[in-house]
Amino acid sequence: MPFTYHAGELYCENLPLREIAATYGTPCYVYSFHDIVARVGAFREAFSEIEHLLCYAVKANNAGAILRIIAQQGCGADVVSGGELFQSMRAGIDPNKIVYAGIGKSAQELEEAILAEILMINIESLAELELLNQIATQHGRLMPIALRVNPDIDPQTHPYISTSLKENKFGIEMEQARRGYYHAMELPGVKPIGIHIHLGSQMVNLAPITAAVELILKMVDDLRQDGLPLEYINIGGGLGIDYHHEGAPGPQDLAAYILPLLRAAKIKLIVEPGRAIVGRAGILLTKVNYCKSHSKRHFVIVDAGMNDLLRPPLYNAYHEIRAVTLRTGEQVVDIVGPVCESADFFGCQRRLTTIKPNDLLAIMDAGAYGFSMASNYNSRPRAAEAIVCGEEHFLIRKRESYSDLIDLEQIPNFLA
Ligand code: LLP
Repeated sequence: MPFTYHAGELYCENLPLREIAATYGTPCYVYSFHDIVARVGAFREAFSEIEHLLCYAVKANNAGAILRIIAQQGCGADVVSGGELFQSMRAGIDPNKIVYAGIGKSAQELEEAILAEILMINIESLAELELLNQIATQHGRLMPIALRVNPDIDPQTHPYISTSLKENKFGIEMEQARRGYYHAMELPGVKPIGIHIHLGSQMVNLAPITAAVELILKMVDDLRQDGLPLEYINIGGGLGIDYHHEGAPGPQDLAAYILPLLRAAKIKLIVEPGRAIVGRAGILLTKVNYCKSHSKRHFVIVDAGMNDLLRPPLYNAYHEIRAVTLRTGEQVVDIVGPVCESADFFGCQRRLTTIKPNDLLAIMDAGAYGFSMASNYNSRPRAAEAIVCGEEHFLIRKRESYSDLIDLEQIPNFLA
């Protein structure tokens, strides 16, 4: 675990977190370099028996320094926008290890992906297939593709992050996908080389993934018999983490289930983990500004807000909250931010050691979908980000300033 107490002080690796606050101020995201590397290694090892490619889901955390770690580890990326493609390539991720999903890629984004010569585009509708074929043909290219199949399997997670039921907008229904493959074989600008699924995120039960893998391997088999030799199965991301003792399975548990199926099918594997790589490697470090009590509640008001970490209000997500310096005594408190919304909370009715103004708190497991979903709501500059490597620390993104809030604005002449 990268965040541990030594003599009542919370550390990241070998560095007391209070040093980060003293150097960069708060709120500040803090990531453990070694934890990210270890989690990449665990995926590698779990699937080492078969040919595989780890395509880190950039949406979980798109910090340039983190993408650089991913590149240095020899991994690829799963991107969902021109912006993510740009950031991944700039960080040095090999385009030939990049896959591109998303239901609404624009013509410009498709063109950029073709010209960047990425490994493959994951097609999410038959209309996208037509458009991609048209653009690739115009450029005289043959673009490798996978179809993202919607297997209509319940991933058993929060409805907002479920993506594999017929009522969800993602992927192509099985029968349509089958027809899509036969159609794609006739098209001059695309080359089907893979099949893609992604069921949902924060999955703590493996049964839906194994059921979906079995289902689409059957389709791979049928297509191969009909002369379409698919090389890759991309099982998406979605592996959950333990925010609150969920007992989330690790990559080795997933491998134990699916490796036998994949070995039998002689097919290359792509995995797209995001949260499982960076989720537990990051915290949001925040300072207590005020403590106040109502007759029914004790509030701890911190300097981070829902604009910094949206997961608690958006999904009612649980993030453990720890005092950076432990004191004696206990109290039950609501930890809330300064934003003008009652949904601006990090944790309600939490039992913590006594908290006083200026204390530091760590909002745990915030490495995934933390900073990447942050906003400037209430005109709050976004937080700084730092990474810890042993006992050293490095700033990887400066805290935004007030001028960053207005830099892109223009006042029309008639208002000048
Ligand atoms: N691949 C595809 C096609 C995806 O859509 C996603 C996530 C991933 C991979 C990575 O999933 P992961 O391994 O991180 O579960 N904002 C939400 C999570 C949204 C996930 C969207 N897609 C949250 O904070 O829980």
